[in-house]
Amino acid sequence: MRKKIVAGNWKMNMDLQEGLVFASSLNEYFRDKPSLKAEVILCTPFIHLPGVAEIVKNGNIFLGAQNCASEESGAYTGEVSANMIKSTGAGYVIIGHSERRTYYHEDNKLLNKKTNLALSNGLYVIFCFGEVKEEREEGKHFNVVKQQLDEGLFTLSKEEMKRIVLAYEPVWAIGTGLTATPDQAQEMHKYIRELVSEKYGNDTAEQLTILYGGSCKPSNAGEIFSKPDVDGGLIGGASLKKDDFISIVEAV
Ligand code: PGA
Repeated sequence: MRKKIVAGNWKMNMDLQEGLVFASSLNEYFRDKPSLKAEVILCTPFIHLPGVAEIVKNGNIFLGAQNCASEESGAYTGEVSANMIKSTGAGYVIIGHSERRTYYHEDNKLLNKKTNLALSNGLYVIFCFGEVKEEREEGKHFNVVKQQLDEGLFTLSKEEMKRIVLAYEPVWAIGTGLTATPDQAQEMHKYIRELVSEKYGNDTAEQLTILYGGSCKPSNAGEIFSKPDVDGGLIGGASLKKDDFISIVEAV
């Protein structure tokens, strides 16, 4: 059975003190839940990583960053490398989030480079992709997703693919309150799994965790996660509210 995951993407929210208090309270809650069906990952801003790593080290929660540099090390003022992330105790990094693609002009080629660096530094990658509203309206969403995967990810070896989690996030659903219907999510996730199967074989495709992201909340998570090719979620806004995040994790 492939792994189910619910990852919280805090984005640029909470100062250090708020983040540590929040992580502690989630850690306490999940520590006593050995029967959890989903792996819980918190993807925090860089500055929270060492503190949250300390908090979750005796618990059930995993830790990730939201981005990493596209270079190994050196004179890149303001950047944080994959190796630095790894050294905090984090195990995951989100790469290719639509906010990075849109606001920071990160293209498939750059994201491919970041993914390779993250993997070679021992991180697991949560690789995000998805179409914008116009692309869906014009019926181009399958082609867009295929190109994002072909260029961003499908240069990896089969071994490397084992360290990848995919996150399909239709851009029109992120932070908008609009959610893909469970059938729309399933249709795309099934297509994604077929693409992976064509490239890497059925075993790799069947083992791959594919998350849905975009306005997931307690009221819709259960139905979306019940679809056979949806293996959990990447949660933005609702991951900042303890009760909502817990309900979403427990919906798996
Ligand atoms: P949202 O964000 O849940 O607030 O829509 C999801 C994401 O950006 O990962």
